[in-house]
Formats: sequence, structure tokens, C-alpha cells
Amino acid sequence: MVAAPLAGKSASSLSLNAIATRKGLRFGSAIASGAPGADRGSVANPAYANLVASQCGLVVAENEMKWQALRPTPTTFAFERFDTILRWAERQHLAVRGHNLLWHQPKWLPAWLNTYDFGTTPHREAERLLTTHINTVLRRYGQRIGSYDVVNEAVRPADGVLYDTSLSRALGGAEPTLDLAFHTARVAAPHAQLVYNDYMSWEPGNAAHRAGVLRLLEGFRRRNVPIDALGIQSHLVTQGPDVAASVTRLQRDWRQFLDAVTQMGYALLITELDVRDNGLPADIAVRDRAVAEYTRGYLDVTLSYPAVRDVLSWGLCDRYSWIEGFEPRKDGARRRPSLYDTQFRPKPMREAVAAAFATATSR
Ligand code: XIL
Repeated sequence: MVAAPLAGKSASSLSLNAIATRKGLRFGSAIASGAPGADRGSVANPAYANLVASQCGLVVAENEMKWQALRPTPTTFAFERFDTILRWAERQHLAVRGHNLLWHQPKWLPAWLNTYDFGTTPHREAERLLTTHINTVLRRYGQRIGSYDVVNEAVRPADGVLYDTSLSRALGGAEPTLDLAFHTARVAAPHAQLVYNDYMSWEPGNAAHRAGVLRLLEGFRRRNVPIDALGIQSHLVTQGPDVAASVTRLQRDWRQFLDAVTQMGYALLITELDVRDNGLPADIAVRDRAVAEYTRGYLDVTLSYPAVRDVLSWGLCDRYSWIEGFEPRKDGARRRPSLYDTQFRPKPMREAVAAAFATATSR
């Protein structure tokens, strides 16, 4: 594809999605639901919603499609909060990803499911619960959702072994559980891209996690499980002030991982980009520059794989990022994980993402 000239618009006045689209990419973000007027990263907060709508081509619900949100009890579904996001996105002509149909860890499943009594034929009851969940969600949304994280984070980072849950114990193992999820999704939504999503990053300490994900992806292929893509969450962590050295050091293992995944025929997505600014001084200008350079290095390497088509950040601005609550900085300075600051102003990271898109090869 030959890129058209920028037609008088400077790169910074173009939206990130417009810059991405020129290369056959899409840019998106997570967004939440919330009460009108609440200071949240939600569709009901015009300051945030307008920013997302102005920069993105697609969105994903931060929490509203997870079992904990959708399944208050074994027999009921609560769709309203997710529906609010979907309706808003459609009014803005934004595509929507589904996240997720099975977060395969007890910690992220509803309490009722972790203590559920599967009765005298546990295998059958677990199969019924899981397939009912997936079928109900997929049939409800039909063509309105084109891509799903069918399974999220099934691999234990420490040793690469699959987690167990009440569902997988009843079903006789993690593999049959994950396989069932994908097979069910394929039949219920044949049009949709089916994704395995996880956070095996390029930083040190992730080798066992990456190896476990590769084993899982190989097993899926061997067993003919219908999966189209690996979602790479990309919750990045800076490695100190010498960013160029970190990028050089980290990219060898990362390319090896991406080579192995793409050689198996999987597409790739960056699904949850943000950055923990570790090992950097509190000084905002210094930090923001290092975060931007690190993001740029990561994107340049990862976007060199034409198998990547979508890049989504996990929220667009520092004001609402989950990172502050997940892992605050040791020095107490507020985290700056996102492309825009707490006042919705673009940061150097925003320019880094734009530049990475602008220099990416077309796909
Ligand atoms: C996070 C949300 O951002 C938080 O609001 C929530 O409390 C926990 O989940 N990997 C994922 C996302 O797949 O769903 C997580 O989102 C972040 C890590």
C-alpha cells in the first residue's frame, strides 16, 4: 500500500488512529462505564470520552465484559454496563473488542464460581456453565464485536504451567477447558477473531512465562483448536535511565518469541499498552522522555512484524490509569503510564506512538 501525502495536516494534528490507518494498523484504548459526571475514564465523562473518540478507531471495555461484571449469579447476566459502552462506541463509529470470555484464574472469577457445587456430574455442569456463558455473550453481540480475548492469562508467570480453576478441576484439566472455550466461540461467532491474551513481556523475569505461552500455543495448533491471534498485553516496565541499552538488550529474546509465535501462523495484537516508569527519577520531563523512548523502541521492534494489526493502550490518560493502584512508585511520585497526562494533554509518549506508526511498514 502506498501512503497518500499528509495533505497539509501536520502529523501532530492527525489522530493516532488516522496515522495508524495509513499503515494498515488501528489504534484503540480501553474505556470504562460510569455514572454521568463522575471523574472516571468512562464513556459518561465527556472529557475522557471525547479524547478517546478523537484518537481511536476501536475500544475495549476495561472491566465490563469480565465474568465478575457480567455474572452476578450462576443464573443471571448483567449486561447494562457493557451495553452502555457498546452503544456509545457505535455512535462514535468505533469498533469494539471483547475482553474477555474466560480470565482463567480464580482471583478474577466471581466468588460464587470459585465455591460452586458442580453436583454429581461435575464435568457436564462445568461444560454447561462455560458454554452457556460464551454462547450467551457471543449471540447477544453478534457482528457488533469483531474480536474477542476468548481466554485471558491462563499461564503462571513463575513456571509457565497453566492455572487451575473450579471450572478446570470439574472439566478434568486446564487444556480441555481452554480448548472448549475456543471451540465454543468459533461456532457461536464464526466471523470473530479469536485471541489468547497474556502479559509475557520482553522484560527480564518473563522467560518462563513466554516459554509457557509458546507451549500453550503449540498445543492449541497440535490439537486443532481454533485461535487466530496472540494478544500481547504490553504492560511495559522501564529498566532505568539508559533506555537505548535496555532496548538493545531486550529485543533479541523478544524477536525470538515473536518469530516462534508468527511461524505457528498466529496474528499478533498489542492489547493493553502502558508503562510503569521504574528505575527513573521523579523529574517529570526526564521520566516522560525515557518512557517515550522506551515505548518507541518496543513499538519499533514489535511493529516490524506485519502480523500486528491493532495497537490498544490500557486507557489513554494518567488520570484514570489502573497502574497507580496496581503498583505505585516507591518514591510516592504519581505514575505517568499513559499517552496523555492528568489534564488530558499529550505527552512525549503520545508522540512516540505516533512516530512509531508513521515509520512502520505498511501492512
Ligand atoms: C484491570 C483493570 O484495569 C482494573 O480496573 C481491574 O481492577 C483489574 O483489571 N490484564 C488484563 C486487564 O487483562 O483486564 C487488567 O485490567 C489489567 C491486566
